[in-house]
Amino acid sequence: MGEQSDALVLFGVTGDLAFKQVFPALQALIRRGQLSVPIVGVARSGWTLEQLRDRARQSLEAHGGVDAAAFARMSELFRYVDGDYRDPATYVRLREALGTAARPLHYLAIPPSLFAVVAEGLASSGCTPGARVVVEKPFGRDLASARELNTTLHRFFREADIFRIDHYLGKEPVQNLLYYRFANSFLEPVWNRNYIRQIQITMAESFGVRGRGKFYEEAGAIRDVVQNHLLQVVSLLAMEPPSGSDTEAVRDAKGQAFRVIRPLQPADVVRGQFAGYRNEPGVAPDSEVETFAAVRLQLDSWRWAGVPFFIRAGKCLPVTATEVFVELKRPPQALFADAATSPANCFRFRLSPHVVLSLAARAKLPGEAMVGEDVELVSCHERADEMAPYERLLRDAMRGDQMLFAREDAVERAWRVVDPVLGSGTTPLETYAAGSWGPTEADCLTAATGGWHQPAEESGC
Ligand code: BG6
Repeated sequence: MGEQSDALVLFGVTGDLAFKQVFPALQALIRRGQLSVPIVGVARSGWTLEQLRDRARQSLEAHGGVDAAAFARMSELFRYVDGDYRDPATYVRLREALGTAARPLHYLAIPPSLFAVVAEGLASSGCTPGARVVVEKPFGRDLASARELNTTLHRFFREADIFRIDHYLGKEPVQNLLYYRFANSFLEPVWNRNYIRQIQITMAESFGVRGRGKFYEEAGAIRDVVQNHLLQVVSLLAMEPPSGSDTEAVRDAKGQAFRVIRPLQPADVVRGQFAGYRNEPGVAPDSEVETFAAVRLQLDSWRWAGVPFFIRAGKCLPVTATEVFVELKRPPQALFADAATSPANCFRFRLSPHVVLSLAARAKLPGEAMVGEDVELVSCHERADEMAPYERLLRDAMRGDQMLFAREDAVERAWRVVDPVLGSGTTPLETYAAGSWGPTEADCLTAATGGWHQPAEESGC
């Protein structure tokens, strides 16, 4: 950690991300008394400061409501710089707007193709010394472009000052994976190839691309959520105990986990597209982009050799739920016939929409017969005042705390895993009906381990 940033600069302040995530996060931080520095919006929309304030109000009205006092404070903190990102004069005006601020945090909510242009503009106007930079996902399109991007950013910023956002890392239940694994001793003896049969991570969304067809055409499920959110979850499940709880110890252990994930081969991947996707606005009529991906990962480590990790993510699936399912091996002898085929004997970590942690097991049914039933010990929590991921991540970046941000090596290693199967040339694309669990071909991946575990829609705690 370092000194607190003394200004927040939002590039792309008129865009979608600012509207959906950033303004609500700013209001929440101000309400908690954690943000009181100038907020400088930058865009090339020909706006005025008043328009920026109006836009922020609309964003808050659409996302949880306006808190009059916090909004008034936010309006006072706002500055606005309008200009083209390629015009050096924009950065001169930005420097002026920053006044005496010496440690600004630059948040780049802009297309990655503009990162280098903006970084150069910032450097040429004296806006980089002492500064930090936050970059949004997608961080590159593949390994080569991610490396290029890292090289570009390193020309102007130190690694310690580069914050690569993966909002999954800011989620409470994702942080809990790290905590739960290493705050308890009962898990460690079984958390390996001797006891674990398989791990499955399902990220199901019951909706489509929600008007983001143009963005999605450039991404597809593998780039959109597998390379980042879901591989990050794999790293937390697979990592060795870190040597300490400090940022670099944890990121070293995660980096090592990424290193043992074998790059995907076409036979380990099933790509699907829901019927109707090609009619979405912004989508090509002959699009080969996947809205569903199922992959089988193999980890080459002492702990995990031979244990398959499956990931499945898709749009227009039957439910909206993200869940980790860790199945234990069956007892070596089937003493009780009724238990032999039970799916119990597993851990379940629900990551959204609710935070659920459960241990499923067989327990004897009261009565004369030695027969049992599946029981589940469930812990579930929901707190109204919980920080949203963007709120937490913005706060941490302002403090210079890197713990919940992706380090260069992890991002590049994650790209190395998916690189061989990116694009439409490597694997076929199967069509699936909206509302189904994706193409039937995906079932072949898990056939040897009993099929996919289907997360249920849960109503809450
Ligand atoms: C985003 C993806 O990063 O994560 C979206 O671009 C996806 O396609 C979203 O829907 C899911 O995040 P959350 O927090 O809503 O589960």
